[in-house]
Order: sequence, then C-alpha cells, then structure tokens
Amino acid sequence: MDESARVPSVSPTRSSPPQHLSGDVPPPLQTVEDSIGPEVQSDVHNTDDADSAYDPTPGNVTETTSLASVITKYREENGRTYHAYGSTEHWGPNDARAQDQQDLSHHLWLVTLDNKLFLAPVENPQRILDLGCGTGIWAMDVAEQYPNAQVKGIELSPIQPTWTPPNAIFEIDDYNLDWLDENKFDLIHARELLGSCPDWVELYKKALKALKPGGWFDQAEPSLFFTSDHIDLPQEHCYTQWGRLMLDAGEKSGMTFNIGPYLKEWMEEAGFVNVTMRRVAWPIGKWAKNKSLQEIGFWNQQRLDAGIQDFCSRRFHNKLGVGTPPDGMISNS
Ligand SMILES: C[S@@+](CC[C@H](N)C(=O)[O-])C[C@H]1O[C@@H](n2cnc3c(N)ncnc32)[C@H](O)[C@@H]1O
Repeated sequence: MDESARVPSVSPTRSSPPQHLSGDVPPPLQTVEDSIGPEVQSDVHNTDDADSAYDPTPGNVTETTSLASVITKYREENGRTYHAYGSTEHWGPNDARAQDQQDLSHHLWLVTLDNKLFLAPVENPQRILDLGCGTGIWAMDVAEQYPNAQVKGIELSPIQPTWTPPNAIFEIDDYNLDWLDENKFDLIHARELLGSCPDWVELYKKALKALKPGGWFDQAEPSLFFTSDHIDLPQEHCYTQWGRLMLDAGEKSGMTFNIGPYLKEWMEEAGFVNVTMRRVAWPIGKWAKNKSLQEIGFWNQQRLDAGIQDFCSRRFHNKLGVGTPPDGMISNS
C-alpha cells in the first residue's frame, strides 16, 4: 500500500486571517493554515493518557516531584515569565497577562470561524490531540463538544486549570521531541505555533504517523506581516517595521515566524494528502462595513494592543538587542 493510501486524508483546513491595520486603514493580512495528518504521538514522557506529569500527588515518586519542580521554575526576563521545560525556547510569556491574551485570541478565532473549533471534516472523533495547548481553552471546548472523545493537550507550561471536562487531560510535553504514539488520533490540532518549531516537515511527519488512517491535522496560524488591499503601507510604517523585526528575530532564533506561505507544501512534503488552505483577512479595528468583519476587527485590535509585546519581547531583547514597542502601538498608529 502506498503512503497516501495508507494515510489518507490530510487537509489543512483552517484559515486564519490576515490582520488589517488600524483605524480605517485596511488590514494587513494574517495567514492561517490548517492541515491534516495522521496521528500524533506524544513524546518524551511516554506517559499514558491517564497521567499528568505536572500534578504530583503527595507521596508520589521522587522523579515526578523533581519533574514538577523543573517545569514550574519559570525563567524571568524583562518583567515576564517564560516556560522552563522543553528542547526549544518558545517566544511567548506564560504569566497571567499572557494567559489572558491566549483566551482573548481563542475568542477571536471563534468569531473568525463562525464558532467552529476546527474546519477539518472530522466526524465523531474518538481521540484528539492539541499541540501547544496553552491555557487549554480550545481542548476544553472541544472536549465539551465531543463528550465521547478523549482529548489531550500537550504544553511546555503547566498553565491549564485543574477543573476540566472529564474527557480532557493535559500533559507537559514538547512536540519538538520524538513522539511515541502511532495510529492513535482522529484529529491533531495546532494553533498559533508560529515561531515555535525548527522543522515543520519533521513535525508533520511525526503527526502523520500519530494519526489514524483517515485522520486529520488542522492548523490555524496568524500572520504577523501586515498588509493592505487598498492603501500603500509604507516601509517606514511602524507595522511594517515591526514585521521586519519579527521576521529577523524569528530567523535568528532558528524558528521562523514566516510559516503561512509554506505550510501547505511542508505538509505535502511530509506525506499529507488532500491538504487545503483558507486565508482570511483580519481587519484591525471596526472600520469594515461588514458586521462580522467589524467584530473580528474589534477583537483583533484588542488582542494586538495588549498583546504585541507578548509576541516580541523575548525575541527582540535576546535576538536583536532592542526593546519592545509600547502598549497601544496598534491603536495609536
Ligand atoms: C501562542 S500560544 C497558543 C496556545 C494555544 N494553541 C491557543 O491557540 O490557545 C503557543 C503555545 O505553544 C506552546 N509551545 C511552544 N513550543 C512548544 C513545544 N515545543 N511543545 C509544546 N508546547 C509548545 C507555548 O508554551 C504556548 O503556550
């Protein structure tokens, strides 16, 4: 049996929006891609679905306790905290402010995708894996939507709540390490993992192996490179400059932020078939006439105003030696 027959259908499905710039300036576009693939395995700890590496119970084994202290020993940089565990350095903070950002972003995605959690044509999924699940908000929503499915979120930071739907679990794990699962998942989900993977083809190959035949990989990514379809965005505009710096910083970290244009070909190179991509424009602010775009624009602006530093603080300081833009840069530009 050839590979495409053995591992059917992958199709990236989710689209993510381009962002529009502020005010009545039309938007820069963000690109999102979804892909599908076979199943993923979760690596490092070789845990089964029932254990939680960061929730040691009293009297539990020393190894577990040690791991728990390692993963919560956050790094502090420029007033923010960052994950301690993992083989790669994620750009985003994990403090309360960053967690609020993630939850706000979840809402923005729901508004964008007509309240859908994913676009892949998965029916009656039994096992779902969420890569880099952050606060776990997507995983918990999907667990509630599919109460018969087992949902697992993996993450570098233990920032998920302890009250979760009974069919959702979280594990501290690093998707950039080896995966152990094979033929296991019906759906693997990834969202906003831009700048957090040194080799996407490699990651997709692991996901393909971890998916069941016929399983899907669904990915949604924003673009940080603002564009406009009706005005010229000058090179010296702060949005354009910020995008160039992000691009440079990402390249210097070895984990590019510029993934949108390549995700489809990387998925296909990894062996996925039936890959589709949808691009959507995200206005910045409520300037659009269309009601739905107005709502997207409102939430996008909120997210960027409060969150632009989250995207760039660590990379700007450590990779470029420059400071971060002020809060409100987006609205004030
Ligand atoms: C921008 S957040 C998005 C969170 C979540 N996917 C969402 O959309 O709400 C990216 C998350 O990926 C996690 N992450 C980055 N690299 C990772 C890795 N190698 N393994 C596991 N999680 C990772 C980060 O810790 C962070 O919480």
